[in-house]
Amino acid sequence: MMKRCLILVGGVFLYLFSGYFVFADKPTFAEKETVNKKCVGCHSSLHQGLVTQHLESPMANLHDKINPILCLDCHGFEHQSAEDYTKAEMPTAETCGECHHDQLKQLREGKHNLAWFGMKSQVAYHRQQSAIVEVGYRGCSGCHKIGQKGLMGISQGITDDLEYDAGQEMSKYRYGNTQCDACHTRHSFKKSEAQDPRVCSNCHVGFDHPQWEMYMSSKHGIVWDIEKNKNVKGRTPTCQYCHMPAGNHTVKTSWGFLALRIPTKSNVLKLIGKESTPKDSPSEKTSWGELAQQISDESNVFKLIENIPELVDALTKLVEYLPVGNYEGVDDDPQWVFDRALILQASGILDANFQPTKRFIEIVVQGEAARGPTEFNEIRGKMKTICQECHAKKFVELHFKASDEIIKAADREFAKAIQAVQGLYQDGILEKPANWEFAPDLLQFYDAKTVIEQELYLILLEYRQRTFQGAFHASNDYMHWYGWAPLKTAVANILEEAKRMRTKHEEKGK
Ligand code: HEC
Ligand code: HEC
Ligand code: HEC
Ligand code: HEC
Ligand code: HEC
Ligand code: HEC
Ligand code: HEC
Ligand code: HEC
Repeated sequence: MMKRCLILVGGVFLYLFSGYFVFADKPTFAEKETVNKKCVGCHSSLHQGLVTQHLESPMANLHDKINPILCLDCHGFEHQSAEDYTKAEMPTAETCGECHHDQLKQLREGKHNLAWFGMKSQVAYHRQQSAIVEVGYRGCSGCHKIGQKGLMGISQGITDDLEYDAGQEMSKYRYGNTQCDACHTRHSFKKSEAQDPRVCSNCHVGFDHPQWEMYMSSKHGIVWDIEKNKNVKGRTPTCQYCHMPAGNHTVKTSWGFLALRIPTKSNVLKLIGKESTPKDSPSEKTSWGELAQQISDESNVFKLIENIPELVDALTKLVEYLPVGNYEGVDDDPQWVFDRALILQASGILDANFQPTKRFIEIVVQGEAARGPTEFNEIRGKMKTICQECHAKKFVELHFKASDEIIKAADREFAKAIQAVQGLYQDGILEKPANWEFAPDLLQFYDAKTVIEQELYLILLEYRQRTFQGAFHASNDYMHWYGWAPLKTAVANILEEAKRMRTKHEEKGK
């Protein structure tokens, strides 16, 4: 091809007669600015709003002798005419990270970075048509695009730490790969916007994680709303004050979204009444699902375990996978350990024999849905220090203790409902749907086939979530009337419905 270009003597860019600039390695700012004038000029006539936002943004108006950031710093300069705009580059978090190393590094280490992977770890996500959950970012993906695309886990054959696919998945999406713009929206990219708690409310809202509503009905949010402090530091804390102290972009809490924690070795040994790890003596005879059914509502877990030695074997096997240490200040009650194990079982994270499944690796280990004691204690310690900037130590301890106890109470109720439904499957009153791996399976969400399982799903994602999340966020209304109250109603309905289904089944059998 004949190159009709003029090489500027001593210059570092090439000029094509078509008006197309081709930069050499390192263009000077003046050279970039020349090209950028064209971007701004043409785009002003296309969408003035976008250009104004950029021109008025902090990055386009840097002081202290730093050159302003230009369109082409983020979009490249391959596209320079009305015809070739598909060549425009769309920025990724890496693009921003070229100049903001610290924020990128911090984001990568926190839970936000795992949001896309976490979403895709869900069976419910894969069961919906893509228009509902993915295309155009209207469903799950609209919120979860804050996460990094292209993280590969056990579904891609990676069993250890997540690996990155070098941009393959990202290349399938024209838009929505930036991550950073979840809190610093284009084209202003402001720090002050990200410091406002309203910025989080785009996602931390509604059905299963109404942190915004809880905050706004807590004293913290109300005072913030009245006083509208312009930055993170005010008389009461914002979301960012508690979750992104000192502007740290790594977000993670102790309990996490589902308020689950990985049991420790000593938790389980205490549950099975042993001091140290006994020898492996697996028993193949009895189904553990069957054994779980034998636990009645009011059962004492110790008695149960005494009477079912096979359960001890199963739990003993589990001990191998578990971390050492203990959760500081959190109740170790063995009944609670067992109730949590039932929740994990009903989520297909532990199998019928209480052994870890593929979901355990994908959701808990790789997606980091639950923490072990070391991490839990560290994050909690930091959070308590933040509270103590304004509250007494005793006040803070009591708040956390009370909130933990609320999770425990909710889990006891939830476990009763789970057992009732597991019992229906065990006794053949409910039949496992053909394409389900586990039943009941809480993670099928709203695809549950029966009214009783729909209720069970609501406990997991709506009522139990609101109960403990409301407690931590000091929203009495959410903790009680949107959380605990409907949770109790749902458990009562489930137990009643299970009884009814049994009676009906027995009548049919006669
Ligand atoms: C002569 C006009 C013109 C010039 C010069 C121009 N663009 Fe564009 N650009 C367009 C048109 C037309 C579109 C498509 C707009 C649309 O879809 O509404 C576009 C689209 C884009 C897009 C969006 C692409 C997409 O897939 O949505 C970006 C980003 C972009 N331009 C950046 C730039 C940058 C950076 C420069 C300078 C290096 C530049 N443009 C120069 C006309 C121009
Ligand atoms: C070519 C380098 C460069 C790129 C690329 C870049 N920035 Fe910046 N940005 C800067 C500089 C320089 C500043 C001013 C100094 C600072 O705050 O670090 C700044 C400031 C900011 C600020 C603070 C603005 C304020 O209100 O004070 C935010 C937020 C920001 N950038 C976000 C982003 C995001 C998001 C991206 C990617 C979409 C991005 N930046 C890409 C260089 C860059
Ligand atoms: C675009 C949507 C979106 C925005 C905006 C957003 N988040 Fe998130 N956030 C998520 C998603 C999705 C997750 C779950 C990620 C995962 O664990 O897979 C999450 C997780 C978290 C967690 C971790 C909870 C845990 O599991 O320990 C915290 C804390 C958090 N966000 C705080 C914030 C704060 C504070 C803001 C505002 C400054 C904010 N988020 C803005 C979507 C968002
Ligand atoms: C600091 C980085 C940055 C700068 C500077 C920047 N953009 Fe963007 N631009 C983005 C990001 C981030 C997106 C959203 C990408 C996505 O959705 O994947 C975007 C999206 C766009 C889009 C398509 C999406 C839409 O909203 O229509 C156009 C067009 C565009 N930019 C044009 C421009 C022009 C013209 C300039 C200069 C006047 C400019 N950008 C400056 C980061 C930047
Ligand atoms: C006063 C400090 C504080 C404020 C303000 C605050 N949080 Fe929290 N947040 C907490 C504590 C404490 C926890 C539970 C920590 C634990 O697990 O030990 C928590 C937990 C979370 C979690 C994990 C799930 C849950 O709800 O327990 C998310 C997500 C979250 N907060 C987001 C937000 C968002 C978004 C806002 C603002 C709308 C906000 N938080 C305001 C202290 C705060
Ligand atoms: C969950 C919301 C959220 C996301 C996502 C996010 N930021 Fe921020 N960012 C904030 C908050 C809040 C602040 C203000 C911190 C403070 O008060 O110092 C901030 C501040 C900044 C600043 C200004 C730093 C300073 O000290 O002046 C830059 C630059 C920045 N972010 C870049 C990024 C980049 C780059 C990404 C993506 C890799 C990103 N942010 C993603 C919330 C976010
Ligand atoms: C309105 C925004 C929004 C939508 C829509 C949404 N999520 Fe989320 N998701 C979040 C937020 C915010 C969190 C973090 C909540 C918390 O920690 O309390 C989250 C947490 C999660 C987690 C927990 C990750 C963990 O490790 O704790 C998974 C998994 C998840 N979502 C999957 C999905 C799936 C699948 C869909 C669609 C069926 C979906 N989400 C729809 C915002 C959303
Ligand atoms: C920046 C200061 C500040 C921080 C940090 C802070 N709070 Fe507060 N908090 C307040 C103020 C001010 C009030 C309102 C006082 C009142 O009700 O008289 C309040 C109210 C409360 C209340 C309601 C008290 C009542 O009597 O109704 C609880 C509970 C609470 N905070 C817990 C916490 C916890 C837990 C943390 C840490 C996760 C925390 N706060 C962090 C300032 C703060």
